Amino acid sequence: MNAHAHGAPGAVSVSQSPPLTLPIRHMLLGVLGFALFAVDLLAQSLSLGRGDALSPVVVALTHVLTLGSLLSFAMGAVYQLTTVAFLVPLASVWAARWNFWLYAAGVAGLTGSMAAWWTLGLTVFGTLTAVALYAYAGVVLATLARTQVRGPMRGFVLSAHVHLILAVTVAWAMILAVTGRGGPGLARWAMPLLGTHILLAVVGFFTFLVVGFSYKLLPMFTLSHGFSIRRQPWTLALSHTGLWLAVVGLWWGGPGGDGAGASAAARPFAWAVPWAGPQILDAIGALLGVAAFVNHLLDIRGILRKRMRKKVEPPIQAAIAAAAAGLLGALLAVLGFVWPRGVGAWESAVTVYLLGLITGTVMSYGYKIVPFLVWTKRYSKQAGRDSTLRIADLLNPERARPVLAGFGSGVILLAIGTELGSWVVTVLGALLVAAAVAVFVAEVIRVVDLRQAGREWSARRGKGGDGW
Ligand code: HEM
Repeated sequence: MNAHAHGAPGAVSVSQSPPLTLPIRHMLLGVLGFALFAVDLLAQSLSLGRGDALSPVVVALTHVLTLGSLLSFAMGAVYQLTTVAFLVPLASVWAARWNFWLYAAGVAGLTGSMAAWWTLGLTVFGTLTAVALYAYAGVVLATLARTQVRGPMRGFVLSAHVHLILAVTVAWAMILAVTGRGGPGLARWAMPLLGTHILLAVVGFFTFLVVGFSYKLLPMFTLSHGFSIRRQPWTLALSHTGLWLAVVGLWWGGPGGDGAGASAAARPFAWAVPWAGPQILDAIGALLGVAAFVNHLLDIRGILRKRMRKKVEPPIQAAIAAAAAGLLGALLAVLGFVWPRGVGAWESAVTVYLLGLITGTVMSYGYKIVPFLVWTKRYSKQAGRDSTLRIADLLNPERARPVLAGFGSGVILLAIGTELGSWVVTVLGALLVAAAVAVFVAEVIRVVDLRQAGREWSARRGKGGDGW
């Protein structure tokens, strides 16, 4: 592929971008999180098919993935891409840099405390992680407040960070509830709190972020111009309405979520929607989610039709497949209401969604963005000379094909295994996913070249710079 020069239009880096050490250090933490996730998934694959979604080790595994890896990658990418997409510098690079260490310490302690179900650790490290995430969202929102760029992309990215603040606040309340520190009143609401946490974090934050930035990244990587943007506001409106109907539905059902035995006082939203049963709101919410994804996929088709680069590279194909996995996850959620099958129904929907859509997107764009950043830092100044390395020499996008295909097949097997309650299929899926993630980790580490990064870090520090 052709490398865009630093600062050229359509590049992943512009003159307002933060020092590359900032995104790269987040991405390296994300890689470490991915490696831990792959090992942990392998270790637990034998017990995964037994369907205990809320056992401490599974909750810890979920957060090694979501916080240790996905969110860490996302933070690095957002610090970088916000400056590219919204053409403003970060509100505070200093705060972002220091917050990284607070976040890393918080997440390490929190996931460890989850695995051991150490309630004091949950409270202390949960609070630390929450503070770090408020600081991160604060830096992004303060940055977005300065941009002149308007429209659905800003709407998605801005809402994503407001949802993150809410998801973290709910997580913190949930910790008080499950550790008994919030008293019996809060403990009764543990289930709606958990549902709200998952919806706001997985859909409200990650999905909004993925959809918002795909409006920038897909045209950038396919060199597409002049595509229609008239559907975008509809995707935003459908996503918001669907998400919030589902959240209200969770609370309206009372502490047990099904409305049974709940007094009027224990159904805080009953006044707003007295005409419908509790589950109907969640079902309509999921249906609107389906509509939002259909709309988004039509937009993606429009972008592809107007592309100037003939060949769509494997990472970009995979990013599009990941968006289709989002649609599948939303359809599985609708199916869960039409044909209730217990916890397995929600597990397969969350698996397809969290692994297929979110993890799939992060890995796909990771294959493009990580080599781009490393190339920009190390080789862009030499661009134009004959002997110069191209980005594709650092990491050929073709190498992503077997890895992402293996990952996708693993996710499909995991979902089928959970749906059918088949232990063998679930374990096979977990093994494939773990293997694909491990190869991805090895590829990124090879591109970053930790030894060279170490040398650059000490050289820069020696000169009073900030190193990597
Ligand atoms: C934005 C990233 C996050 C995502 C996507 C996420 C996702 C999830 C999911 C899917 C579950 C369900 C359990 C499972 O399937 O294993 C869960 C539970 C939980 N989350 Fe998070 N989470 C995030 C951030 C956080 C944060 C920052 C905290 C703490 C400050 C937290 C605390 C918890 C706790 C304590 C539970 C378990 C509650 C219980 O056992 O009842 N989460 N989360």
